[in-house]
Amino acid sequence: MTKVFIQTYGCQMNVADSDEMFTHLAARGAEYTDQLDEADIVLVNTCTVRDHAEHRAVSFLGRLAAWKKERPHRVIIFAGCAAERLGAEIQKKYPFLDILSGAKDIEHFSDRLDASGLFAAPGRAGEAPAPGLTGYVTIMRGCDFACSYCIVPSVRGPVKCLPAENILKEAAQKAAAGAKEIMLLGQTVNAYRDGQTSFADLLNRVSEVPGVERVRFTSPHPIYFTPAFLEAVKNNPKIARNVHLPVQSGSTKVLQEMKRGYTREIFLDKVRALKACGFTISTDIIVGFPTETEEDFRQTLSLVDEAEFFAAYCFKYSPRRGTPAAQMKLLDKKVLEERLDILLNRVRGLSDAAYQTQVGTVKEVLLESENKGRSSENFWVKTHKSYPVGSIVRTEIEKADGTLLFARD
Ligand code: SAH
Ligand code: SF4
Ligand code: F3S
Repeated sequence: MTKVFIQTYGCQMNVADSDEMFTHLAARGAEYTDQLDEADIVLVNTCTVRDHAEHRAVSFLGRLAAWKKERPHRVIIFAGCAAERLGAEIQKKYPFLDILSGAKDIEHFSDRLDASGLFAAPGRAGEAPAPGLTGYVTIMRGCDFACSYCIVPSVRGPVKCLPAENILKEAAQKAAAGAKEIMLLGQTVNAYRDGQTSFADLLNRVSEVPGVERVRFTSPHPIYFTPAFLEAVKNNPKIARNVHLPVQSGSTKVLQEMKRGYTREIFLDKVRALKACGFTISTDIIVGFPTETEEDFRQTLSLVDEAEFFAAYCFKYSPRRGTPAAQMKLLDKKVLEERLDILLNRVRGLSDAAYQTQVGTVKEVLLESENKGRSSENFWVKTHKSYPVGSIVRTEIEKADGTLLFARD
């Protein structure tokens, strides 16, 4: 039996893409292994959002030279966003690489396998890996924005929404295979539209699929959170009350230079509206965008205080070749490090503080093990008693310790 080892870098969309690519390999008789040593095929699914992410993927590829030398029949597939960006350049540098399949190619991955001549024609319908408690479903590919720092639109291409009927079918398959929670995926997931079906309609329809207890989605763009959206979802408790809503900067001036399409005030209005519907909000922040002044940075710190995020992921600005911001002069490295340190210190306590506010509330916990699970707002909760995995327990919260709530059940 041919065995495939999968190394995935990057975002959840890439994780879902790896599953999809595995399905095509499975159709050709491959079986999954988590042991690189015993694998015949390696699928490296790469990210290029920051230089560091791409570097990790390329280093991994470099290390595969020895793995391939051990048994020359082994097959290396280099896929995803860094593969898209680097193209033939990477093939030239690492000639032992067998198949190159960039992110835009995902829909033609099966053809790539056939064209390589390394695989027999598919012998059976490939099965997706078992979904676990959360089933990931891609609902749109690509991005129509042009944030001035971002490489994603160039490596993933323009938005393509998948037909709602296909999405519902996939959600039903995942639920039938045991998923209780469906996570809908897209780079600007809430910009989804298919004919008359809006994103809110889709959320509501997925939540009605038999077996689906909870629906999550990532990552939304602030401008698509309209009052109409909130109105459409507010009476549906199956739509999880947690969003990852990247802000990137707290300064309206920098947001404009980033071409984000909103101001600090608009973002904070969205935060208030989402919170009023019970959502917890996590975010992404970029530190050291080329035009960021001390005052701009202070604005980011004050936005963090005002928004009271559930969590914030902070990244050092990384210039990406071909993006408009890559033409700008970089900030001093030391300034960048200092700002990152200050910001990390500011965001460190956010989650603990959010957990503390939950004592005394009542939560519905979807159990991921016999006595631990997540609430709709994404709080981790430990139950007193044990329950079957996948059940939902409604319970009061007795205490909080760091980023864990203890239930009174
Ligand atoms: N589509 C999502 C973000 C996808 S990229 C959105 O628009 O919200 C994930 C995160 O990587 C971004 O939120 C941003 O914070 C970070 N990022 C993207 N490009 C970057 C760059 N050039 N340097 C540093 N961080 C970057
Ligand atoms: Fe990148 Fe902006 Fe698109 Fe997000 S919305 S993927 S940050 S271009
Ligand atoms: Fe990375 Fe591509 Fe996702 S660049 S963040 S894997 S869309």
